[in-house]
Amino acid sequence: MTNLDSIVALAKRRGFIYPGSEIYGGITGFWDYGPLGTELKNNIKKEWWKSMVQMREDVVGLDAAIIMNPRVWEASGHTKVFADPLVECKVCHKRFRADKDEILLSHEKTHKEKVSWTDPKQFNLLTEVYLGVTEPKEKAYLRGEITQGVFVNFRNVVDSTRIKIPFGIAQIGKAFRNEITPGNFTFRSREFEQMELEYFVKPGDDKWFDYWKKERMKWYESLGMAKDHLRLRDHEEHERAHYARFATDIEYNAPFGWSEFEGIHHRGDFDLGNHKLKYRDDIAGEEYTPWVIETSGGVDRAALFFLLEAYHEEPVRNASHSDAGGEKRVVLKLDPRLAPKKVAVFPLVSNKENITAKAQAVYAILKARYMTAWDARGNIGKRYLAQDEAGTPWCVTVDYTTLEDDTVTIRDRDTTKQDRVNISKLVAYIDEKLGSL
Ligand code: GAP
Repeated sequence: MTNLDSIVALAKRRGFIYPGSEIYGGITGFWDYGPLGTELKNNIKKEWWKSMVQMREDVVGLDAAIIMNPRVWEASGHTKVFADPLVECKVCHKRFRADKDEILLSHEKTHKEKVSWTDPKQFNLLTEVYLGVTEPKEKAYLRGEITQGVFVNFRNVVDSTRIKIPFGIAQIGKAFRNEITPGNFTFRSREFEQMELEYFVKPGDDKWFDYWKKERMKWYESLGMAKDHLRLRDHEEHERAHYARFATDIEYNAPFGWSEFEGIHHRGDFDLGNHKLKYRDDIAGEEYTPWVIETSGGVDRAALFFLLEAYHEEPVRNASHSDAGGEKRVVLKLDPRLAPKKVAVFPLVSNKENITAKAQAVYAILKARYMTAWDARGNIGKRYLAQDEAGTPWCVTVDYTTLEDDTVTIRDRDTTKQDRVNISKLVAYIDEKLGSL
């Protein structure tokens, strides 16, 4: 199994993820995405949107504000019960979640003396913000889940789109939680991004919870997560969030144990009921409070787990002129749809003007269509290795033969095999590979 340190090091080295505010010593629970990480996250969100909105007739999108009227959080129950029970170590006064036995045990081992704990206390996870310029300022919250924006716009969406139940509203955006114990790299952060679907059904229409569990598992598998690295785990009653009738987590077999990165929740009529919203079915002539089935995924956790899944160290296969003669390569075997750069273009040598000019012309064609890298430094083998680490599926080299017959080599990241393709066919070649996925 890939260890977390390899991913943390690669993320920093290649520009996927950096510690937040690093030059000022960082800030616990906040992370910044670099050039490659931004592309990876965007691609995850793009694929999610494609499968959840673009390909469906029964789902529409929304982008609600991060800060909402604080009454929303009272109605939703978050000001009261969105809390973790915490205990404090009486030796060092650090606070930990009371429900994580393994963390408490490992903390006990860090002290020589016997540790005792305070009784558990509830700490609210909502992050407060203050609005306005004159005192007293108006207290509001950064949203603790993106979900409530969907519920408060339920009537707006129904009225403006005429969409009929069963239907869903999808949203992607940042959420904030005052997590007491951020950790495991980006896994538990204080600022993170969620991708959620709220699917509204007629009360009693029971098939949707199972339907969405299956759909979401299929989606992660279709983008390269191995079946045996994934599992569904039903919540015990005591684990369930205050809004959930029942809940199942999609978990990944991470280096720090099986870990949730998406929750499928049956929220019943909890939220629409609290916001006093109903749905009117004009054809059947009835009015009711719909039930909600929710799929709530974390973009950051998905990005981390896609990186862990993709990370491979393997011997360099063809230690010929075209692949470096080193012993080992690090290769990110990301699904090409998720890869930050789809293709890289290299001039075989950087000191021949006609080769560089031809390579620039190829680069111009490709970058108009795909995120494309350009590299003219060092030898070709080193350039391949650099692109392997970045997860770039294809590398195109312009060489002396190109000047004669307009063909280039295109090398596959995973097999390291090369094809020779006419420049006029390059886009079709790449499109065919991407389109067949
Ligand atoms: N609307 C339902 C909801 O927010 P949740 O299980 O609390 O449910 C859903 O969160 C997903 O959001 C989690 O599965 C995880 O991927 C992500 N998430 C939650 N807290 C997080 C944190 N502190 N850091 C990173 N991701 C987090």
